[in-house]
Amino acid sequence: MYTEKVIEEFTNPENVGELADADAVGEAGSPTCGDIMKIYLKVEGDLIVDARFQTFGCAAAIASSSMATRMILGMTLTEAWNLSNADVVDALGGLPEPKVHCSLLARDAIRAAIDDFQTRRGLEPLERGSGCCCSEEGGCGSCPGND
Ligand code: FES
Repeated sequence: MYTEKVIEEFTNPENVGELADADAVGEAGSPTCGDIMKIYLKVEGDLIVDARFQTFGCAAAIASSSMATRMILGMTLTEAWNLSNADVVDALGGLPEPKVHCSLLARDAIRAAIDDFQTRRGLEPLERGSGCCCSEEGGCGSCPGND
């Protein structure tokens, strides 16, 4: 059911935990299953230099969180904002269709953290796109603009 990459990320996740001196914290919950992800970011200038997560969710959610935190390291805030859950799913070699929604937790938590960073500094929030940003045909119903 899961790819080798998903199993690898789930059984040996990276960046688990919290950052005591985080510059931003974001949390997201899945309306589908009630699971929750919290992400902590350390930011220098416009670059994400550290990221940690705590996920109370399924194997796919934990694998997505681990992969997403690894992918955003070294990214600018805008690049991280634009990381879609489809990018994370691709990096995992795919997720079974009923589990694609689990990857939204990571993307939504990253965006919440970036919003937190902007707010703490009195900056404008980054722009939310419209429509669905995942790869699900017809939209997943969970993307900003589809609420
Ligand atoms: S079933 Fe809840 S995040 Fe996967």
